[in-house]
Amino acid sequence: MSAPTATTTLLAVDDLRVEFATDHGWSTVVAGTSFSVGEREIVGLVGESGSGKTVTGLSVLGLLPRGVGRVASGSVTLGDRDLLGLSERELRSVRGNEVAMVFQEPMTSLNPAFRVGDQIAEAVRLHRGVSRRAARDRAVEVLDLVGIPHARRRADEYPHEFSGGMRQRAMIAMAVSCEPRLLIADEPTTALDVTIQAQVLELLAGMQQELGMSVLLVTHDLGVVAEVCERVVVMYAGQVVEQTDAVELFDHPRHPYTEGLLAAMPQLGSRGQRLSSIPGRTPEPWGMPQGCRFAPRCGYAVDACGEPPPLVTARSGHLSRCHRHDELTLRGAR
Ligand SMILES: Nc1ncnc2c1ncn2[C@@H]1O[C@H](COP(=O)(O)OP(=O)(O)OP(=O)(O)O)[C@@H](O)[C@H]1O
Ligand code: SF4
Ligand SMILES: [Mg+2]
Repeated sequence: MSAPTATTTLLAVDDLRVEFATDHGWSTVVAGTSFSVGEREIVGLVGESGSGKTVTGLSVLGLLPRGVGRVASGSVTLGDRDLLGLSERELRSVRGNEVAMVFQEPMTSLNPAFRVGDQIAEAVRLHRGVSRRAARDRAVEVLDLVGIPHARRRADEYPHEFSGGMRQRAMIAMAVSCEPRLLIADEPTTALDVTIQAQVLELLAGMQQELGMSVLLVTHDLGVVAEVCERVVVMYAGQVVEQTDAVELFDHPRHPYTEGLLAAMPQLGSRGQRLSSIPGRTPEPWGMPQGCRFAPRCGYAVDACGEPPPLVTARSGHLSRCHRHDELTLRGAR
């Protein structure tokens, strides 16, 4: 089912199904996920560990590990281009130029053997085909833009000479250096302490405004969502279970899993808390419940929940994958 959108759609993920090779054969880890990101919109992709957030982000960019993960069906379109149908060469051009990703662990993306400025300049040269000197200037410019003090000097340093927060800023600088239309930021603040988290989030929101980008912000942290996201997609066990605008989600959740996530937040606006207080665990991809995937952990489960619930419109612009979405009064966060 198509996702609701408030603005012109930039990214549309429709019925995406991703499989991974496991000891149990090919297991479905993302099962029929649909959502969209509008032009200049910040959308949060939220869920506990293992829900399929990173895999969804990697699929959009054609970055699933070869031979291990594969898109089994569905479509991913950016504007009017079908990304899943592109060759590796075409995808390389999309990556960086049109869509950039900030990965969950900055040290895996910054090469420890090269100076930070050189790495950013290299990305600029690759995508923009400009001279070495222009690429270098651009690298310093974006390092400055993300708030690295003495950017020209720091550009000559190696990643280990940067603090965690500065490395994350450098990653964001690299990602936005070619002014992508869409930034996929995967847990960009998780490894940082609370004060630095706030600064990096502020930076992301500022860059989004300044560059007119769209952002898909992957996080397990609803505090982060409350701070910067306009719309929210909630994933559970490889499926989208709820999707609506952020204010509506916090005020009137329509899925028991979201209610659990909201209850797990110590206080709206606080950051850095793992969403771990819903009793039980996310099922493994090879051991999914037959009916509603959340049923074993759901306090509202009834016999009907033995059938898989479809993702339906609970109210205008608000999707829920719960049989009981219109009869339950769930608790919001405020
Ligand atoms: N390389 C891999 N091989 C096999 N299974 C994988 C691989 N990468 C991810 N998975 C499986 O895909 C599912 C979704 O993983 P994913 O990394 O997308 O979760 P996530 O929502 O990003 O979690 P986290 O919050 O911990 O980052 C998990 O069940 C995971 O075990
Ligand atoms: S369908 Fe049933 S088990 Fe699933 S979330 Fe709704 S009430 Fe709970
Ligand atoms: Mg992840």
